[in-house]
Amino acid sequence: MKVLQVSAEIFPLLKTGGLADIAGALPIALNASGCAVRVLLPGFAPILADLQSDSVLTELTAPWGERVQLRQGVLGSLGIAAYVIDAPDLYARAGTPYEDAQRQAHHDNHLRFALLGWVAAQLACGLDSHWRPAVVHSHDWHAALTSAYLAFGPTQGRRVASVYTVHNLAYQGVFAPIHFFDLGLPTQAFSVNGLEFHGQLSFMKAGLYYADHITTVSPTYAREIQTPEQGCGLDGLLRSRAHELSGILNAVDEAVWNPATDATIPAAFDAKKPAGKALCKAALQQQLGLAVKPDVPLFGLVSRLTEQKGLYLVLAVLDELIARGGQLVVLGTGDAALEDAFLARAAAHPQAVSVRIGYDEAHAHRIFAATDVTLVPSRFEPCGLTQMYGFKYGSLPLVHRVGGLADTVVDCALENLADETANGFVFDAFTPEALARAMRRAWALYERKSEWRNVRQRAMQQSLGWNKAAAQYVALYHRLLS
Ligand code: ADP
Ligand code: GLC
Repeated sequence: MKVLQVSAEIFPLLKTGGLADIAGALPIALNASGCAVRVLLPGFAPILADLQSDSVLTELTAPWGERVQLRQGVLGSLGIAAYVIDAPDLYARAGTPYEDAQRQAHHDNHLRFALLGWVAAQLACGLDSHWRPAVVHSHDWHAALTSAYLAFGPTQGRRVASVYTVHNLAYQGVFAPIHFFDLGLPTQAFSVNGLEFHGQLSFMKAGLYYADHITTVSPTYAREIQTPEQGCGLDGLLRSRAHELSGILNAVDEAVWNPATDATIPAAFDAKKPAGKALCKAALQQQLGLAVKPDVPLFGLVSRLTEQKGLYLVLAVLDELIARGGQLVVLGTGDAALEDAFLARAAAHPQAVSVRIGYDEAHAHRIFAATDVTLVPSRFEPCGLTQMYGFKYGSLPLVHRVGGLADTVVDCALENLADETANGFVFDAFTPEALARAMRRAWALYERKSEWRNVRQRAMQQSLGWNKAAAQYVALYHRLLS
């Protein structure tokens, strides 16, 4: 089965969050399950630079008249066949894929990402005479117009199934309505049954309304987004499509996240031979100027510093964490107020708190390897990957019971310890008090060394690889095509 995966980011070439991890791992997992996957990506500099054996497939005129080239080749770092849209005027810019160096959204993001969906639909309609996908699977608002273009496109009678995956409903790609006229879609698409959202143009709605099937990245989030509390204004539409909406839990790329083979950490370890973890902890404490103490719980936080991630709760319990003798390592970038608040705490307690502002893949690996507990207190979390990386590296996750966190972490309550399902710490109310109580549970378990080791070993041995999720996606594709 030929499958085209469409996304704005892909690990290891371009990553601002978990979307890239999934976009990099899913094609490989699907290929291993018998699919023939190609990816379509915007021509951001690192992506073009990685494209090998490439040639220009064709030149195209976008609906708004811009001339672009479509290149095809193989992404050298992943070994995946790829189409890349070569449009330097749109993609060759400083900053993130979405924002300029001053963190302002690019003024023409509607065009930059409409092009991605438009080219995906052209490929689905036979643009490459040697390769035509049976399924087009697009990810997040950046690729969401794919389904709308397909719905109105000349598929020449051939069935092309469209799947749209929501990685985060909070980022919707909403633009002024005037931009609708650039897109080349029929006017009927700008209605409540289409792309119109409270008078604005919504890319997210294009995916939710026109895709044959919607998935999101955990079963619990699939239910949550159908409620007014978590539906971001789209819960009504999602409820109306409940039969075409499902949650497929993300997985871990075990070739990248494996402490037994990870070249970025100072000592290798695994569930059966965990000794190297203590070395990783001592090395990180030393490197960051924390007190080098083997027996104090070291908490880790690797996160975008945004409101979603529940970080004010962490700031609220930090005094207690320090007073108990614990330590915290933070790696993140995002809202200036959160960056400043964490930096101030590190400056006040340099032996107990280390904060690095920025994006650093290797440092993230070293944090999972060194820490005892991974904090993920998110207000909402579609899936969350860091709690799973915590499992793999023996850093037990402490999480808020929402979304994919609820689907992956089982609290160390006595009954869960007794039946050997516990693998972390979970709190319900989104309050500092609830987080503090979960932190105290973590502490209590940490002080029972052999029980801690048992839970940690079990957490590390969980199977979190892509087999299961890939099989679910393949079953979905088959069902849509049958
Ligand atoms: P989200 O996609 O909402 O940011 P996820 O938990 O799904 O949350 O994925 C976050 C990914 O980004 C993980 O791979 C995590 O390790 C990584 N990450 C987040 N912040 C940083 C950072 N500052 N430096 C390195 N990696 C980071
Ligand atoms: C989003 C979500 C996160 C999820 C990731 C990958 O960024 O915020 O919860 O793990 O996508 O699906």
